[in-house]
Amino acid sequence: MHTDSKSILVVGGAGYIGSHMVLSLKRAGYHPVVLDNLSKGHRDAVIDAELIVGDMADARLLDEIFSRYQFLAVMHFASFIEVGESVKFPARYYQNNVAATLNLLDIMIKNGVKHFIFSSTAAVYGEPKSAAITETHSLAPINPYGRSKWMVEEMIKDFAVSDGLNYAILRYFNAAGADPEGRLCERHEPESHLIPIVLQAAAGKRQGVTIYGDRYPTADGTCVRDYIHIVDLCHAHLLALRALTEGKKSMIYNLGTGHGYSVLQVVDVARRVTGKDIKAAMGEPRAGDSAVLVADAALAKQELNWVPSYPDLETIIRHAWQAMFKHS
Ligand code: UFG
Repeated sequence: MHTDSKSILVVGGAGYIGSHMVLSLKRAGYHPVVLDNLSKGHRDAVIDAELIVGDMADARLLDEIFSRYQFLAVMHFASFIEVGESVKFPARYYQNNVAATLNLLDIMIKNGVKHFIFSSTAAVYGEPKSAAITETHSLAPINPYGRSKWMVEEMIKDFAVSDGLNYAILRYFNAAGADPEGRLCERHEPESHLIPIVLQAAAGKRQGVTIYGDRYPTADGTCVRDYIHIVDLCHAHLLALRALTEGKKSMIYNLGTGHGYSVLQVVDVARRVTGKDIKAAMGEPRAGDSAVLVADAALAKQELNWVPSYPDLETIIRHAWQAMFKHS
């Protein structure tokens, strides 16, 4: 048994957000151990940390891992994240995001690990009732992806009551950008996220970008999102981890910048950053999309003393663009 008091289990640590988290944890002196089934993640994205290839649904494997390590905390990034796919194949989302997470929670609690950091999402709010969403906004997800995350949030709160689980539920808005040193980049296969798609178009790897609808109730008719730099997102996790392990109460925070950009604005900024002519064609709306999702992230800033380093979209897109080239 490793009794190192700084070991953190990072489930989904070979994925886009998890792999950036591993870098942040290492830099802060923690010892991340990655569990990832590589269904979406990449082996080469796990830099300087142990990678255990396996599934969080595998109770036997989890028993074995928890008998080897005395983890300080578990961070969970191993979810399916495609809104459109979740509408077509809800079972995948309830199986992986909900049932497998229940297995993880169950085994970590049996092993006396009390701190849990969970990647939740703005999608738990559904259609916002206010311009900037606070954590007290009603929870009314409008697609199976959002519902799967909401269900896990509820399970976590139940385990807090029954077993004293301490949790940080972090509701991400749109994670974007890449490690400024270019060690990692965003790689989903197939890619569905706006910024990497726009940059692939700029790099000539695809013909252009299709804009999913221009009849939303927004200034230019396209959907508005709050893009947050991946490094800032990971930094908030680090602060949440420190707060939990120093005995602070469980927390639920939105992580965003508080600024919304429309799809057309993203394409424009990407044209400026890359200096390329990115072709954009208007298409049909995508099932399950909310018109506007913008965070009020004041609570995380106030309570965690979280100060985003890269709040502007230009820097986010520039880092993503630089990293894409290093990895192509
Ligand atoms: N979009 C396009 N064309 C594309 C891809 C995306 O117009 O080719 C639009 C989408 O319709 C949306 C916006 O660009 O309006 C952003 O889309 P993304 O797919 O990049 O991100 P989403 O907002 O759909 O989803 C992201 C995360 C989810 C998370 C959600 C919360 O992927 O995990 O943010 O807001 F739940």
